[in-house]
Amino acid sequence: MVLRALLAVLLLGALPAGAGGGGHGNPSDLGAYARALTDPARDAWQRPDAVVDALGLRPGSVACDVGAGPGYFTLRLARAVGADGRVYAVDVEPALLAALRDHLEAAGISNVTPVLSVPSDPLLPARACDVVLVVNTYHHFPDGPTYLRRLAAALGPGGRIVNVDFEKRPTPVGPPVGHRVSRDAFVADAAGAGLEVVDEPRLLEHQYVVVLRPAGGIIQRP
Ligand SMILES: C[S@@+](CC[C@H](N)C(=O)[O-])C[C@H]1O[C@@H](n2cnc3c(N)ncnc32)[C@H](O)[C@@H]1O
Repeated sequence: MVLRALLAVLLLGALPAGAGGGGHGNPSDLGAYARALTDPARDAWQRPDAVVDALGLRPGSVACDVGAGPGYFTLRLARAVGADGRVYAVDVEPALLAALRDHLEAAGISNVTPVLSVPSDPLLPARACDVVLVVNTYHHFPDGPTYLRRLAAALGPGGRIVNVDFEKRPTPVGPPVGHRVSRDAFVADAAGAGLEVVDEPRLLEHQYVVVLRPAGGIIQRP
């Protein structure tokens, strides 16, 4: 139990972009990282089912999980959108996408498309996503505002971007405070990318949840 807690503190997005031994801000032991990210003990503070419920997905929706890792949220999104829906699971790290494929196969889930992206671009199809979900990943992007514009270009009509990330204060889990992006800094980046806040559900003790849409319905392409 102590080991689990330690892993959660050390590994959940522990490093800024480019600083991790494993590349892309990830630790070098990607197997241990994948296990920490999918550890059921995480549910107590991450409340994944409450987060997915708040996304308003329906059967047939398209959800885009950006920085999906080994699929802690992806599998839940896949169940929420059902057989007629689709999840694009985007990540830059092939080993974590391989772990995701293993989890999908073990769970018998076939409505997920893994996408091996590049650091500056999620490589999502244009106008494909009803919801883009980004969890504990924003600080990994090399240029946040430009990345947000690329995510906006992937939104379909009425689409939303939902960012879940750690408050910039000490918490029992999460990366070092110095590596975090505060809620206010994130919202300022979003405004610079032509996105406006439409909701901020208070779901989580240690994290903010910010829901964005293109300001005035206008998507500013990068
Ligand atoms: C802290 S993990 C979060 C994983 C997942 N969202 C979760 O909550 O379990 C951050 C993830 O972002 C990925 N990542 C890092 N830089 C990225 C980038 N530029 N584009 C897409 N994914 C990136 C990492 O490989 C890692 O899987």
